[in-house]
Amino acid sequence: MCGIVGVLGKHQAAPILVEGLKLLEYRGYDSAGIATISDGRLERRRALGKLVNLSDILVHEPLRGTAGIGHTRWATHGAANESNAHPHARGRVAVVHNGIIENFRDLRAFLSEHQVVPETDTDTETVAMLCNWYMEQGSTPVEAAKLTVARLEGAYALCFLFDGEEDLIIAARKGSPLAVGWGEQEMYVGSDALALAPMTDEITYLEEGDIAVITRAGADFLDAGFHPVSRPRKRVRVNANAADKGGYKHFMAKEIAEQPSVLGEATEYYLRDQTGRQLLREGVDFADIDRVVMVACGTAALACSVAKYWFEQLAGLPVEVDIASEFRYREPPLSKGTLAIFVSQSGETADTLAAMRYCAGKVARSVAIVNVAESSIARESDIALPILAGPEIGVASTKAFTCQLVVLAVLALRASEQRGTQDTTRIEALEAQLRHVPGMVSEAMRCEDRIQAVSSQLARRRHALFLGRGVMFPLALEGALKLKEISYIHAEGYASGELKHGPIALIDEEMPVIVLAPHDAVFDKTVSNMQEVMARGGQIAMISDAQGLELASEGLWNGIEMPTFDSIFAPIVYAVPVQLLAYYTAVEKGTDVDQPRNLAKSVTVE
Ligand code: AGP
Repeated sequence: MCGIVGVLGKHQAAPILVEGLKLLEYRGYDSAGIATISDGRLERRRALGKLVNLSDILVHEPLRGTAGIGHTRWATHGAANESNAHPHARGRVAVVHNGIIENFRDLRAFLSEHQVVPETDTDTETVAMLCNWYMEQGSTPVEAAKLTVARLEGAYALCFLFDGEEDLIIAARKGSPLAVGWGEQEMYVGSDALALAPMTDEITYLEEGDIAVITRAGADFLDAGFHPVSRPRKRVRVNANAADKGGYKHFMAKEIAEQPSVLGEATEYYLRDQTGRQLLREGVDFADIDRVVMVACGTAALACSVAKYWFEQLAGLPVEVDIASEFRYREPPLSKGTLAIFVSQSGETADTLAAMRYCAGKVARSVAIVNVAESSIARESDIALPILAGPEIGVASTKAFTCQLVVLAVLALRASEQRGTQDTTRIEALEAQLRHVPGMVSEAMRCEDRIQAVSSQLARRRHALFLGRGVMFPLALEGALKLKEISYIHAEGYASGELKHGPIALIDEEMPVIVLAPHDAVFDKTVSNMQEVMARGGQIAMISDAQGLELASEGLWNGIEMPTFDSIFAPIVYAVPVQLLAYYTAVEKGTDVDQPRNLAKSVTVE
């Protein structure tokens, strides 16, 4: 996804725009650019790569003016280069865009019939071309923007800026989030509240199909049918220094370290705090549920895969976990006895949102487990359960993953309670175990030095395998995802018992195998798998507790000790070593830990 910011201010717009883009850069960093109205004239500065490159340009070629828009890009249409960088401009119009205009080729064909031809490879440029064309036909800026938006198909958050218009920004939203910020005789636009936090905490979120006509005096909203509509102004407190590394080298390191405290927030909220318990009681009734589908992408989907074990073993509920990009096109049969759960840190992942829309009206309830309360997935769900992780800036999801697991664990306990599959004593014991998780995670952090030593060796390898059995199998998949997405080392996760059905052919002295194996009911089986690996020269790093390491330490390449935690919720604790392993390996390799190549924090396009 991309980041959008706009300002109609009293002071120079460029520094404000760059500050806002800094808070949005995690959304995409292939290029950045701003446009301002300087002495009535529309001017742009754009740069390939990180925002710092744009800042350098602005030092030598400053942009003046108190009205402006800005953009940080994750490329969808058109290579990541300066020509394709936003803002795109044509004639009197500049535009920044987050999303995909699916019918941009049809619009290009229409425009070429009127001798208006593209100069870039992007879909966004077509929006500027069309809007400018309408203005050349005599439309006012507002009319031209409305006529343009009416012809767009696909997903967009757009901001329009017009040559000669020092006090006008037009914003439009469909499928990608956009918010208006209210100041004192100043107005702002941003992709999310975090971008606006340095300027204001008074926010209005555009609804699907909305257009906002913004001047320094305020904003007028039109709905999808262009009818005037009022939208609420909310005070949204986002701690702007959440986008500050707080002394850590990377956001990822900070967010891994924050886990004990944010996990404490989440467990407290849902297990003790009346508000959280009330939200659960009112929101999710498992009495009439005979099946659960869980839909998400990436790490969020792996959190669902862990939770599948919890719902099935504790609540006796069949669970199907689907990655959203498959679910939405497979058209799976659903019923009113199905509970649909959608997990998304950003709450804006296009495939997950589309999957939830597919379920609308077909299931008992749609439950969103999200980290952004005002996100599209939260707003369109029947009930949104916050994970309380706080803003997660690092592209690799860490604290959000473990907080998602806590909320899913609490839901599994509620299901057990309402379906009578666990007695009160057992439920209380499980709740006690969950309340121990933050402290166990804090203890797990002590493996950091050991992990660093393993990472320095792992960083020299080109491949790696992660193995896990039972609830640790999805965590093996998560460990592989973490490693590959930030260190660029190819890694795969496998069920330990699956290795001998093919992947064991990969085993040799060059293949490090990370095994997640607490001393639990399936430990002995996993040890057998480890011996099959070592018998073929495989190098094993075992992540286990003291007892597990004592029993299986012979011949290990490395051993990493976890606190002893005899609980079905152990995966939440074992997430720490896989996160740290990926982190320190990436640091050793010198990759861009917080903004890995080709990635963005949330994929708001298909
Ligand atoms: C996780 O480390 C990745 N960054 C990615 O897989 C992410 O989990 C996925 O894109 C889903 O994002 P969401 O939780 O915001 O929906």
